[in-house]
This record gives sequence, C-alpha cells and structure tokens, in this order.
Amino acid sequence: MPDSLPQRADPRSPVRSRRVTTVFVLNGPNLNLLGGREPEVYGTATLADVERLCRETAAELGLTLDFRQSNQEGELVDWLQEAGAAVAAGAGIGAVLNPAAYSHTSIALPDAIEGARLPVVEVHISNVHKREPFRHHSYVSAVAAGVVVGFGVIGYQLAIRGLHQLRGG
Ligand code: DQA
Repeated sequence: MPDSLPQRADPRSPVRSRRVTTVFVLNGPNLNLLGGREPEVYGTATLADVERLCRETAAELGLTLDFRQSNQEGELVDWLQEAGAAVAAGAGIGAVLNPAAYSHTSIALPDAIEGARLPVVEVHISNVHKREPFRHHSYVSAVAAGVVVGFGVIGYQLAIRGLHQLRGG
C-alpha cells in the first residue's frame, strides 16, 4: 500500500479497542489550603496528596486523570463546560467535583453541569450534614449523578470508582 494512503486500523488489533478516557477531578475554593486548613475537619492530607490518591485510582481503572483546583467560580464553570465537551467527544467519562463553599451558593455551577450534560459525582471531605445548617444544602446535588460525603479524602477515590461504574465500568 502506498505511504500516502491512510492506514486503516486492523479490527483485530488490541490497540483499536483501547480508548483514552479522562476523568476530571475539579476542586473549588480554599481546597488549595488542604493539609493546614482546619485539620480537625478536613484532615492533614494536602491537595497534592489527594491528587496522588486520585491518580492511583484512575490508573487502576485505566483512566487518565485531569486534576484541577480554582478559587474562581467562573473558572470552574469554564472547566465544567470543557469536561462536558470532552465527554461529548468520547474522550472523558465525567467529573468528580468538590464545589467547596460554592456548593451552598452557586447557581452557575449546576447550570454549567446541566448545560454541558456533564456526568458529575459531587464529593465533600467532611460530613456537611453534621455541620452548620448553611452547609446542609448543595445546589450541585440536584444535578449530580451521585454524592459522596464525609469519608475524608478517600471520598475522591470512591467518587472516581462510582463515576466509572455509573458510566458502564
Ligand atoms: C467541603 C465542605 C464545604 O461546606 C466547605 O465550604 C468546603 C469543603 C468539604 O469538602 O467538606 O470548602 O466541600
């Protein structure tokens, strides 16, 4: 076959069935302070530790991890839209989202999740239901596929596994 013609993948090739699928893990405001921030509530693991845990779980499931944190609501909206586009293109399974304080205040985040048709598992390190009443309601929960609350930082790993299962394993 001349070099200039496109090569068609051999349907029996194992490479053909290997898809690169990304799991996004998006973190909201003040989560960059993990480790030093109220350790009695959030523990002593840093955000870099959380990223390592997520990377382990993603690798175990054959997923690529895209891990981010922002203190800006608009940046999180942009990332949710980007993750939704990746899912629509077949390049992503969805997002694990810890919206942090924006859980309790933001309409823009759930709007972005719905608008982008993004499968989301919401995660909270602490058990928000044991805490102040203003933390009992999350606008994100109504549009989330699932919610993981109160397991500490291993909640991120549980959320990745749950999202992977929900998306067909
Ligand atoms: C949090 C709980 C939120 O109420 C709080 O604003 C956070 C972290 C958690 O992971 O437990 O910043 O989302």
